[in-house]
Amino acid sequence: MSNFILIKKKIDSFKKKTLSIPGDKSLSIRFILLSSLTKGKCTGYNLLNSEDIISAIKSIRKLGIKVILKKSKCEIYGGGLFGFKYKKNLVLDAGNSGTTARLICSTLIDTKYPIKITGDKSLKKRDMKRIIDPLKLFGAKFKDNNGKLPIFIKGSKFTRPIYYTENLGSAQCKSAVMIAALKTSGITKIKSLPSRNHTELMFKNVLKVPIKIKNKKKYDFIEIKGKHEILPFNYKIPGDISSASFFIVLTLLSKKSELILKNININPSRTGVIKILNMMGANIKFLNKKKYNGELIGDIFVKSSNKLKAINLNSTLNSSAIDEFLLIFLVASKCKGVSSFIKLSELNKKESRRLDWGIKILKMMNVKTQRTSNNGIRIWGNNNYQINKKIVIKNYLKDHRIFMVCTIAALSLGGNWKIYDPNSFKTSFPTFLKSLLSLGATIK
Ligand code: S3P
Repeated sequence: MSNFILIKKKIDSFKKKTLSIPGDKSLSIRFILLSSLTKGKCTGYNLLNSEDIISAIKSIRKLGIKVILKKSKCEIYGGGLFGFKYKKNLVLDAGNSGTTARLICSTLIDTKYPIKITGDKSLKKRDMKRIIDPLKLFGAKFKDNNGKLPIFIKGSKFTRPIYYTENLGSAQCKSAVMIAALKTSGITKIKSLPSRNHTELMFKNVLKVPIKIKNKKKYDFIEIKGKHEILPFNYKIPGDISSASFFIVLTLLSKKSELILKNININPSRTGVIKILNMMGANIKFLNKKKYNGELIGDIFVKSSNKLKAINLNSTLNSSAIDEFLLIFLVASKCKGVSSFIKLSELNKKESRRLDWGIKILKMMNVKTQRTSNNGIRIWGNNNYQINKKIVIKNYLKDHRIFMVCTIAALSLGGNWKIYDPNSFKTSFPTFLKSLLSLGATIK
């Protein structure tokens, strides 16, 4: 594949189309890491087949866990809570995956030998202090390179449960503490700002870990009793709403189009994007809703709208839409009026500085955009907005979501685009271009 794509034409209207979306990335990584801690064979179906997932699988293989990847399923032979085969000089490479890097550390709080955790150029810029601090409280030791990868973790025989307040709204931090708690005698107590709750749901419904969860007004309160043996399990991973969102926005912004996305994880802690788009005047509906191991799953119906309106969003939905904000910014450019979003500092801590790049790309698109205090952004939109210029998007730290958002902008808003690094989407959504082609996109 060439190292850029060219898009010169908007997608033609499409109707009565149905798409399947690959498995959820968060659930796929949790399936892999949690399976490695059970005693016996776990089988995962519809696992995402992407580079982030391969990084997670390679990491647990290095810890002595057998993984058999088949076309339609993934079998993992866990060694029990303390079943990793620790060796000297182990290096685990999480590639581009923050979730893998942060969550794998939490499974290593008992390692006899120091283990090096590293990642690619983008991951090496990301903050690991946020999980190092609580994991130190459990008793693990770190050589921590100012909180950036590569780091070394050495475990302890005498881990202890902790009290921990999670104040970033980060599911990765909350989950790291929850997973470390599994290897510790006693009760770990967590007070956390709301964030995606897949780990809680898996602990409760699948692993049957003794867990108490109370969702109060501002915080969630979680208690986990550690050292409870986890039995093997099977898990069918639903489609990823973060990946589905690219197609939701493509449909919404294109003319006279309609789309159904099948079997998507619509857990309310992930559907901030739908709530926000509906507040902007979209009419996105969930169909055929059902529960699976605590997760809400359904089909998503979306159709085009030319009457979108600006939004003045407070920060309560930020964490449940955190991976979709660049798409939401794109929609704001086609809304009547001035939209504003606040408290988005976490966006600049992702695979690239997404708030900064979002502002830069909107400006390239000639959309009036202003950064506001409080890590906010204001976007001047217009229902008739169209792009009529040449835009070149360089390879910004190979951020998969930046590549995909720009592709959607080109196909729905027009312009003449050259977008670098089509390989980046293999991180999270390897069938992205294929699905666009199936809807009739012209991409060279
Ligand atoms: C994830 C949590 C989010 C999200 C990331 C996946 C997870 O990060 O951005 O893509 O699987 O727990 P934070 O928890 O750091 O916000």
